[in-house]
Amino acid sequence: MSRMRATEIPTGKKQVSFDLQGKIAGLAVVVMAAGLGKRMRSKQAKVLHRVAGQAMVLYSVGLGLRVAGDRVAVVVGHQADLVRQVIDRATSGMSGEAAIAIVEQREQLGTGHAVLQSRPVFAVGKRGAPSNYLILNGDTPLLQESTVRELLRVHRENHATVTVLTAVLEDASGYGRVVRAHSPGRGVSRIVEDRDANAEERAIREINVGTYVVDGEFLFSALEKLDPSNAQGEYYLTDIIHLAAEQGRPVAAVVLDNPDEGLGVNTRRQLAEAEQVVRQQIRERWLDAGVTMIDPASTWVDATVTIGKDTVLYPNVTLEGTTAIGEDCVLRSSTRLTNCIVGNGVEILDHCLFTDSHIEDDAHLGPFVHLRPGVVVRKKAKVGNFVEMKKTDLGEGSKANHLSYLGDATIGKGVNIGAGTITCNYDGARKFQTVIGDGVFLGSDTQLIAPVTVGARAIIAAGTTVTEDVPEDALVIARVAQVNRAGWAARRRALQVGVDRETTATRLTKKQPLVSKGKQAKKRK
Ligand code: UD1
Ligand code: CA
Repeated sequence: MSRMRATEIPTGKKQVSFDLQGKIAGLAVVVMAAGLGKRMRSKQAKVLHRVAGQAMVLYSVGLGLRVAGDRVAVVVGHQADLVRQVIDRATSGMSGEAAIAIVEQREQLGTGHAVLQSRPVFAVGKRGAPSNYLILNGDTPLLQESTVRELLRVHRENHATVTVLTAVLEDASGYGRVVRAHSPGRGVSRIVEDRDANAEERAIREINVGTYVVDGEFLFSALEKLDPSNAQGEYYLTDIIHLAAEQGRPVAAVVLDNPDEGLGVNTRRQLAEAEQVVRQQIRERWLDAGVTMIDPASTWVDATVTIGKDTVLYPNVTLEGTTAIGEDCVLRSSTRLTNCIVGNGVEILDHCLFTDSHIEDDAHLGPFVHLRPGVVVRKKAKVGNFVEMKKTDLGEGSKANHLSYLGDATIGKGVNIGAGTITCNYDGARKFQTVIGDGVFLGSDTQLIAPVTVGARAIIAAGTTVTEDVPEDALVIARVAQVNRAGWAARRRALQVGVDRETTATRLTKKQPLVSKGKQAKKRK
């Protein structure tokens, strides 16, 4: 790979079989995710903080699953149950994946101690011990799979015992520094943590990213030998490098060409930095895949979203969670979709907010539509200005174009929902269903008092309050009959001034409520 330089140190050792695209036989993964992350100043465990909508730990776990031919262990500790849940939820849909084993580190005694907790997962069983371990920090979300594969390639090429990923930074403060030998090869001799470093070591700008490949036979025997006599009183994983070098074992290193990728998130500032970088990577990925973004900088796409070819995203579109958009869609400005499935050829106009909903091909929505969880908008259906829907299935080609609330409803094909239609689905205690058959015409300002069923092809006159089921093909009118009184309005206007004066005076003296005004006016007439 051209983006990195490898540094060496060869000796003879065993071979691992590599498949550069898929999983690597004999490779196990350990993800360290037990720390609290004090420097985040948060109630939430650091690895649960999200980058581009995805908990940080899932970047490392996902990467591990993509490369590991053997087991993947995740070491949890702080908020162990929550971290476990997040991992379970993210990986539950995956079929035939290498099993993830979650192990607990009850006390956070350091990264070396964390990895040691995973030992039982890899105890020799049917499969035998892993040939190599890939060890990942849970707080390096920018790390790329191609880099990890390069690290493995270099490890194999050099028959190394440990191979470490490094980066050269302008400001290396906070990171472990890579101390290299003075001998010609300049091999890595040890890593010194920021807090243990002397002035000379602090001046080193090559840092440890926190990604390692370690020989299967060496790892746990080395971890057993760790000594916590350092500034933090912790068992440092990084000390295994010194142990290997001391024993004359080969230690190799890969230096990142793009140091951004090595960012370790310890603070909110670094979290914000990671967010910017990941967002940009995601945008570039979808642009490369054939998605048009009118203004990429204001287009926000979560890590877990997918978008089809020739879809056009206008400024300020936000796509979150498990949202999947089809091909040839247009999403106009200031629209946010969370966990939505959108078919092909869908047009969504400006200022829409959709959550946990499903929109089929060629549907047309917006502007100003609110879809709350559980909505299905079928093919070629139209949902227009100021319509709110919840747990509602709007049938193929049906239209709800203006100012409606549709909740807990099943609506058939080719239905017209008149402006201002309301499903009255809630009686103050419980929710009820509304069912509307195919081809129904609901006039404007219809109220449907649920539970209620309207039969196919029925016509509901404007302003009707539907309280009972309607048979198929019926016409329903339920509203007060109209009364016209000739000249009444003019007479009322003529009286208006006097009435107002008298009413105000009466209210001031007798404290009568203003509602009596109409009655008084009538009496006078
Ligand atoms: C670590 C490295 C440092 C490197 C840096 C890169 C060590 C001793 N230091 O430092 O050389 O430059 O990462 O970002 O490894 N964790 C546990 N259990 C623990 C302690 C930590 O699971 O007892 C986990 C954390 O949740 C985190 C990871 O290990 O995901 C790294 O821990 P952190 O405290 O962030 O280490 P750094 O000080 O950044
Ligand atoms: Ca860190």
